[in-house]
Amino acid sequence: MTLSLRSRLLLWLMVPLAPFVIATALTAYDAARHTADYLQDGTLLSSARTIIEDVQWIDGRLAVAVQPAALEIFESPSQDRVFYKVIAQDGRLLAGSNDLAVPPEGKGRPFFFDCHFDGMPIRAVVYSRQLFNDGKSDTVTVVVGKTQGSRQAMLDRMWRPLLLCECLMLFLVAALVPLGLAVELKPLMQLKNDVAGREPMQLEPMHAVGLPRELQPIVDAINQCIAQLKLHSETQRQFVADAAHQLCTPLALLDTQIQYAVRICEGAACADALNGARRSTGKMKTMTHQLLLLAQAESAPQRSDTQTDLAAVVASVLSELVVAAQARDIDLGAECDDHMYVTGDAPIFAALIANLVDNAIRYTQRGGRVTASVNREDAWVVLRVIDNGPGIAAELLAHVFERFRRGATLVEGSGLGLSIVRKIAQRHGGSVVLGSGSDGRGLTVTVKLPAWAEREYRDETAAG
Ligand SMILES: Nc1ncnc2c1ncn2[C@@H]1O[C@H](COP(=O)(O)OP(=O)(O)OP(=O)(O)O)[C@@H](O)[C@H]1O
Ligand SMILES: [Mg+2]
Repeated sequence: MTLSLRSRLLLWLMVPLAPFVIATALTAYDAARHTADYLQDGTLLSSARTIIEDVQWIDGRLAVAVQPAALEIFESPSQDRVFYKVIAQDGRLLAGSNDLAVPPEGKGRPFFFDCHFDGMPIRAVVYSRQLFNDGKSDTVTVVVGKTQGSRQAMLDRMWRPLLLCECLMLFLVAALVPLGLAVELKPLMQLKNDVAGREPMQLEPMHAVGLPRELQPIVDAINQCIAQLKLHSETQRQFVADAAHQLCTPLALLDTQIQYAVRICEGAACADALNGARRSTGKMKTMTHQLLLLAQAESAPQRSDTQTDLAAVVASVLSELVVAAQARDIDLGAECDDHMYVTGDAPIFAALIANLVDNAIRYTQRGGRVTASVNREDAWVVLRVIDNGPGIAAELLAHVFERFRRGATLVEGSGLGLSIVRKIAQRHGGSVVLGSGSDGRGLTVTVKLPAWAEREYRDETAAG
């Protein structure tokens, strides 16, 4: 069983504290009992002495008239009952209750004892003194007892506040530990949310604010791990980019060689085989180009001071793709506002737009319509590529941005275009959303990018 940190801390505190509290409470109780007994016994003895002072010789016999002062010292809010007994040496009762027991130990010096009288527990003292008169002597014994009410009240007054304080202390510990932990672990929870909410490729170091010093090494270790991941992913990306780049030249060479072979080969079967090889080379070239673009998109600088007019890039891309559109009788058009500046390099945005327009041209039926528009919406420059083709099936929509994910189509492709588009948008602080076309059919891809002026302004305010 795994115990929570709260339970563990509570155990660490409560296990030693509870016996400590019990031991101190018992010690305090014992000390309070001794004090209460000492005070009570003192009062009993002084009452017995006062009574003995009242014993007199009258006509050669002992007689006593107990003064109220001898019993008044017992007065208390507890209204204890007091019993006494005065007897002569021969056992003659001089005053008080005859039923009160006289223990034999009372001769000579005061003796305190506990007993029951009239069905009640009492504390009593027996005290004897020898009295002389005209050569005669007699021993007078006084027993004074009282019920335990005031003694118990005194004991409670001395002991209970301490017990209460100690229980309060235990309660405070039990309440403050979880509270303190909750407050102190808040930065750790924020760190957890930060880690959990990260994008897979978000590899910036973590900044834990307000974290206890003891937990800082954990953040350092996470950051170290992030740095290693970053290095690893950059090495991999660089490898893909290098491999794609290195493949471009031999593929182009291969294409030329196959073209030459087609020209000089004799026989239809040989030409067919060479043409098939050329188509495969073409696919490889497209795939290599897309891989290179993806690597470039992933390594595009997130901060840049280059501004690019997205409307101009759209115009340039459309002019390159107009031939492909005409080949499929597609009505390719643009509706762009002027001066749609965003932050970043023109070639990377050209790759984004080319992929979207290329998709629209390739997947829309012959004679269809494709429109690219750029305009400003608040702090955003919004690019839309709208077509009236078949659109994307609902079940594919959620996965279409994944690498190598393709729809059920006969059109050739590598399945990387939309991954490239999303990566470029994200690297530039933007987003991509897919929706249906303008008249309910087809596809609209909406790319939002922070407008240049707003971005500049935000950077300034962040720095200031
Ligand atoms: N405008 C569109 N209309 C209909 N389907 C589309 C459209 N754009 C993309 N798709 C669907 O989304 C899938 C993924 O597109 P994506 O651009 O990522 O890859 P691709 O076009 O297949 O290959 P690549 O672009 O790498 O050559 C496509 O296979 C296609 O099924
Ligand atoms: Mg594509």
